[in-house]
Amino acid sequence: MALVMGAVVLVGAQSRLPTEPAKAGFLRIIIKRPPEKPPVWFSHQLHEERRVNCQTCHHDFQAKRNLWRRGQPVKKCQDCHALGAKGGRPDIKSAFHRQCKGCHLKLRQQGRKAGPIECRDCHGET
Ligand code: HEC
Ligand code: HEC
Ligand code: HEC
Ligand code: HEC
Repeated sequence: MALVMGAVVLVGAQSRLPTEPAKAGFLRIIIKRPPEKPPVWFSHQLHEERRVNCQTCHHDFQAKRNLWRRGQPVKKCQDCHALGAKGGRPDIKSAFHRQCKGCHLKLRQQGRKAGPIECRDCHGET
């Protein structure tokens, strides 16, 4: 009985996390106050139109395999990536830079259309 109740509570807590993204918004991670750089504008819709899969960016690694699938709740990157790196898990700032800039850089090197790689083009400074 106790086990069953435990499971119900867990499902309830999980379902409060969103499964579908907001259209577009500012990402913000706080490493120090005030933040060094202005927040970055990010659009799911734009990346979906460019055929980037959800699993390219969202993951839940179990024994090195990404088991996250669309329809499952999404945690904030910061829930798993801390201010310092841990094992194969990059720190939160590098997690964003590796994922975002990493893909943009790779596409550029392949001569394909890609997003920005310059600080100011993501962080919106002049
Ligand atoms: C492809 C987009 C992209 C590029 C290019 C990029 N960043 Fe970021 N950066 C992000 C994202 C996304 C975050 C996390 C969300 C946020 O803090 O806005 C971030 C976070 C940061 C943070 C931690 C938050 C803060 O402001 O203290 C720093 C510092 C930072 N970036 C510096 C830089 C510098 C310096 C460059 C250029 C060498 C750069 N970034 C280029 C996307 C980018
Ligand atoms: C190019 C990378 C990328 C792709 C592709 C992507 N996401 Fe996201 N998603 C993010 C980032 C970054 C966040 C913000 C995470 C944070 O705040 O820590 C996010 C947040 C979310 C959230 C939380 C609510 C919100 O809008 O902040 C949901 C739900 C989500 N994504 C679902 C999806 C689904 C479903 C797909 C596929 C259709 C998808 N994402 C594709 C990067 C991506
Ligand atoms: C449920 C926990 C969890 C969440 C949420 C999460 N990560 Fe991770 N991430 C991990 C773990 C664990 C690893 C290390 C995997 C390994 O050891 O190979 C990792 C590895 C990475 C890596 C390096 C490997 C790779 O795939 O390139 C990047 C970059 C990364 N995460 C970015 C992000 C970003 C950006 C977000 C938010 C959109 C995010 N992570 C959300 C747990 C998480
Ligand atoms: C797997 C590849 C991939 C990943 C991962 C990725 N992007 Fe992109 N990004 C693209 C492509 C492709 C474009 C569109 C280039 C074009 O058509 O001009 C783009 C465009 C952009 C643009 C330009 C939007 C505009 O209006 O011109 C921004 C800003 C951006 N990405 C930010 C991010 C951030 C922040 C992240 C990480 C959270 C991220 N991207 C992760 C592939 C990626």
